[in-house]
Amino acid sequence: MKSRKVNLAVLASGSGSNLAALIDGVNDGVITDARVSVVISNKKDAYALQRAEKTGIQGISIKRSDFACDKDFDRYLLKKLREFKIDVVLLAGYMRILTEPVLEAYRERILNIHPSLLPEFGGKGMYGMRVHEEVIKSGAPVSGCTVHLVDENIDRGPILAQASVSVLPGETPQELAAKVLKEEHKLYPATVQKFIAELDI
Ligand code: GRF
Repeated sequence: MKSRKVNLAVLASGSGSNLAALIDGVNDGVITDARVSVVISNKKDAYALQRAEKTGIQGISIKRSDFACDKDFDRYLLKKLREFKIDVVLLAGYMRILTEPVLEAYRERILNIHPSLLPEFGGKGMYGMRVHEEVIKSGAPVSGCTVHLVDENIDRGPILAQASVSVLPGETPQELAAKVLKEEHKLYPATVQKFIAELDI
């Protein structure tokens, strides 16, 4: 039993279907003892922010062009995370690379979900449909998704959990992406639950 609820921040730049799965996870009791306290986006028109608003969670957008450099942006992001007393940061389609201010402050407290079986098909430039196109091109019979801890090395932090799907002959990247996304929506909440259960809060 936790002494209090664990405060989660979800960082998202896009549609936020993983955000929705995390919110459902909290509401359906898959994630116990935690709540999504804030959703932060670097895109003011991200659908993730609308999803947050609809569910009564505060959404914040932060514009990169308001800051001189990435570190200044992340210093401001850190300030916001502290304002909301965030314990754990969940990246869910967040299209920015985190820098030292946030990485240092939240070491081993930042999780990401990636739509491949890391370490395969990860790293710089490997995001969105590109991942699934490369998987299909490679002829790999299996793909999937990975939840991992975030550190300085893009998509290389310690792996917490994976789920796999088979890649069928003739499958399009879009079809594969949809299949993987379905697994993401189960894997992320379940892994977050395991992760927070082990936190000393
Ligand atoms: C997911 O495929 C996730 O693995 C990747 O970005 C995508 C985000 O999708 N990091 P959504 O915004 O959660 O729908």
